Amino acid sequence: MKIHAAVLYAPGIPFAIETLDLAPPQAGEVLVRVAAAGVCHSDWHLMTGATQHATPVVPGHEGAGVVVAVGPGVTRVRAGDHVALNWAPNCGACFYCLHERPSLCDTYIGPIWAGTMMDGTTRLSKDGAPVYAFSALACFADHTVVPQECCVPLSKDIPLSVAALIGCAVTTGVGAALNTARVKPGSSVAVYGAGGVGLSVIMGAQLAGAGRIIAVDTHEAKGDIARAFGATDVLMAGPDTVSAIREMTGGRGADYVFEAIGLPQVQEECLAATRPGGMVVLAGISPVGSATNLPGAIITRQEKTVTGSYYGSANPARDFPLYADLYRRGRLDLDRLISRVYRLEQINEAYADMLGGELARGLITF
Ligand SMILES: NC(=O)c1ccc[n+]([C@@H]2O[C@H](COP(=O)([O-])OP(=O)(O)OC[C@H]3O[C@@H](n4cnc5c(N)ncnc54)[C@H](O)[C@@H]3O)[C@@H](O)[C@H]2O)c1
Ligand SMILES: [Zn+2]
Ligand SMILES: [Zn+2]
Repeated sequence: MKIHAAVLYAPGIPFAIETLDLAPPQAGEVLVRVAAAGVCHSDWHLMTGATQHATPVVPGHEGAGVVVAVGPGVTRVRAGDHVALNWAPNCGACFYCLHERPSLCDTYIGPIWAGTMMDGTTRLSKDGAPVYAFSALACFADHTVVPQECCVPLSKDIPLSVAALIGCAVTTGVGAALNTARVKPGSSVAVYGAGGVGLSVIMGAQLAGAGRIIAVDTHEAKGDIARAFGATDVLMAGPDTVSAIREMTGGRGADYVFEAIGLPQVQEECLAATRPGGMVVLAGISPVGSATNLPGAIITRQEKTVTGSYYGSANPARDFPLYADLYRRGRLDLDRLISRVYRLEQINEAYADMLGGELARGLITF
């Protein structure tokens, strides 16, 4: 079938809206009509080259839609199901899955990072030449074919716009607070970066009962946005940020500090903003090959923990329905996360707005 998709031909060249060919779902695959796709910074890393990928590629990894058709052997979903898309499917059987680290599952990593389906081929093409899929999802397109492992069915009372955000920002951020850090009630939390991910960390910290939640960003506009999601304090990033965080936390530093940007320099600052015995959680994706300079002497003597958080240490089949339920009960304000809705043709504008720092999350709808 013919579809409309945003295509990245090379880093630095704006996304082009193209008509592509999408082959039917093969064994174990699912054709999804995409309803909504979030404007996540991880796709932008392809544009800057911070994340390298085969091109041409259709980005988009924060999506939800309706199952149109399934290939042979598909058991997880059927036509008509509403699904949120999971960009890091887990097999349930590998070392990491068996050791309760499903976000580290290594069964599908090869084909996913090659931009193909599990069999090493693409369903997307243009004029007979392959077009690659980012994170197996390629949901900056009106339709996509994905492995069934990427489909998490959700109840139809959850808007697909909200389901899309559960597919990345919410699971990454709320999960970083609840699963990775296991934030304790009453604790102090600082969050660097108040984008879709950082705001979701703030929501997760609030759900966990954190006492003080300090948001740090470079954009003034993020102050009110962060407060609306539960930040108790807001700081503009600057040379005095660490001392301000210490002042707010009894002179010690925060119990948990999250980095939700992806900048090595900020990751270093996060360590300084963490109290002795506290935890730094790195959720931002820094450029491949970049290095972060963390002083081992301080980590040892002050017993600080530094951990990464990938996809919120999530198990999407477990966590997507949980977040949907918290949304339904008014405990996660995911409608507020959607600050602006775009058409696919506006994708370059949507990313300019993301970089402009005025939005919580932009969303492309079809
Ligand atoms: N760990 C994961 O599994 C995972 C999943 C999704 C996204 N990510 C990554 O998380 C990061 C954030 O994603 P997002 O979609 O929320 O991005 P975003 O662009 O919406 O938000 C980033 C925020 O950081 C702020 N910022 C930029 N520089 C800053 C600085 N020096 N100090 C303080 N604030 C600063 C920006 O103003 C913006 O508000 C990206 O690196 C993205 O790739 C990681
Ligand atoms: Zn994302
Ligand atoms: Zn696995």
